[in-house]
Amino acid sequence: MSRTEDARDRMIVALDVADTAKAARLVKTLGDSVSFYKIGMELVYGGGLEFATDLAASGKKVFLDLKLHDIPNTVQKAAAQVSRLGMTYLTVHAFPQTMKAALEGTRGTDTKILGVTVMTSYDDSDLLAAGYAMGVKELVAHRARQAKEIGIGGLILSAEEVRAMRKLVGDTLDLVTPGIRPAGAAIGDQKRVMTPGEAIAAGATRLVIGRPITEASDPKAAADAIVQEIEAAL
Ligand code: C5P
Repeated sequence: MSRTEDARDRMIVALDVADTAKAARLVKTLGDSVSFYKIGMELVYGGGLEFATDLAASGKKVFLDLKLHDIPNTVQKAAAQVSRLGMTYLTVHAFPQTMKAALEGTRGTDTKILGVTVMTSYDDSDLLAAGYAMGVKELVAHRARQAKEIGIGGLILSAEEVRAMRKLVGDTLDLVTPGIRPAGAAIGDQKRVMTPGEAIAAGATRLVIGRPITEASDPKAAADAIVQEIEAAL
């Protein structure tokens, strides 16, 4: 893999659109500038599972962001189904039972499980209301340690957590982070953001980037500029 290919492989474009026609148009526009896409619940429940499967079969990597959480038997079987679709990443909530079951379901396949530690919409008071004795920082670290011990593929984390978590888990886990904005880009509803270069320097393996690319007047040029910024930080 050349340095540019390596940099491109670290950029995951979030296809946060409601229908597959829109998603297909974006993928066509972005062409060879993007090798990795994230598809979440909105598109999947809008007929996007077949689209995701076709995208993976066409040679792109696909991150299926389904945030699974159920009894182990169900999670294991669902994760096994996802791995048969050729997905590269699948998210599950980072509960020990769930992580172990998903890992079991994908064993021997190319699908990596990413754990969602604590949703960034939660603060300490939300955790308390949900019955947890730990605050957000503590619970993120607790679950990151468990993810490492269980041996899943990685974690999805906010950009500001990456540096500390990289220290905590070492090099074994993929750390994937949203909340990325190229210098000068609109922040939108993201509260704390990092530039692509900063996130890579902090230890992120891959970056999830949506609107700075999908809503750019020239999405392909925006993607190419971000790949260059990542390459410079490698
Ligand atoms: O458009 P934007 O670059 O903000 O998109 C970021 C993507 O990452 C979206 O798919 C969003 O749902 C996801 N995400 C996030 N923050 C989190 C978790 C996921 O922005 N804490």
